[in-house]
Amino acid sequence: MTKRSIILGCGSYLPERIVSNAELAETVDTSDEWIVERTGIKQRHIAAEGQYTSDLALKAAERALAHAGVDAKDIDMVIVATTTPDNTFPATATKVQHNLGMVNGAAFDVQAVCSGFIYALSIADNMIKGGQAENIVVIGAETFSRILDWEDRTTCVLFGDGAGAVVLQAANGADPASQPGGSADLGDNRGRGILSTHLHSDGSTRDLLYVDGGPSSTQTVGHVRMVGKEVFRHAVTNLAGIVHETLDANGLSPADIDWVVPHQANKRILDGTARKLKLPIERMVVTVDRHANTSAASIPLALDEAVKDGRIQRGDLVLMEAMGGGLTWGSALVRW
Ligand code: UT7
Repeated sequence: MTKRSIILGCGSYLPERIVSNAELAETVDTSDEWIVERTGIKQRHIAAEGQYTSDLALKAAERALAHAGVDAKDIDMVIVATTTPDNTFPATATKVQHNLGMVNGAAFDVQAVCSGFIYALSIADNMIKGGQAENIVVIGAETFSRILDWEDRTTCVLFGDGAGAVVLQAANGADPASQPGGSADLGDNRGRGILSTHLHSDGSTRDLLYVDGGPSSTQTVGHVRMVGKEVFRHAVTNLAGIVHETLDANGLSPADIDWVVPHQANKRILDGTARKLKLPIERMVVTVDRHANTSAASIPLALDEAVKDGRIQRGDLVLMEAMGGGLTWGSALVRW
């Protein structure tokens, strides 16, 4: 029987502490005006001392499971996309698995920086299509505040902490795209599901955005370094490319998309992508002003917000896209 994956529920968590641009300007040579004008960021959430990536991930996962109406004991895979794991090993996902009370299944991390959630979603979708799992929790969780150089104004103002999660469930039947209206046996899930995912990377650009430490190289954790202007240039080109690749693969045009849920790095990148797609900016879910760049967590955080406030409705066509260090980039098209 052909399988496909449905996103059954979502959830997210943001640490309590909010740091405004004005507060940052007290310790680093920057201003609210510069940050808002160049990035659209007004504030970010920062994890409390002793609050780890796995703690944020667990809260997001619990909320996603509650929203999906699925019990943790029925989950057979936990995938955490993160660049800021609690420890070098074991995978943060194993801690989340344990804290969810699961004793079965498999748990592992995925590392593709800001594209991590899309990579993890793609792996999960293929696990379900391949019959290796029935219910998967996919989480994007980060404590980027722990790898920032708080004296480097070119990076420290850009990022925040948070987590978001979705619950994927296997459904019988082919891709909804190839079954207009779905088939009778799909019941409530008629027509829903992940239509396609697309992944890319180009390691020749790895020096544009990286961390200057690591277990094998310096035996330190290191700090984020970025050639911002170059990353910006690649982002606009790569994101427009991946959107067109995704739409072409499904025989769709930009006008068919109900919602774009993009990785949230810079409001100017979101505006540029919307312009290129000739998509009204109102159709793009924007959280960068309040969350800043939460790396792998940004898409599931934005998705959860738009689902819970009723913007994303059953049957909507939702396109998620991201680009991050590596460089990596990717997309996922979902019939909600
Ligand atoms: O999530 C992964 C993907 N990441 C991205 O997509 C990020 C892409 N890049 C960007 O979003 C933008 O390039 C930045 C927001 C990082 C920077 O914006 P920009 O318009 O490219 O600014 P810039 O780097 O060209 O810097 C312009 C000026 C410089 O001063 P001079 O050389 O013109 O005197 C910087 O030193 O702004 C200065 N500057 C700042 N000033 C105040 C850089 N950071 C700051 C700051 N506050 N925080």
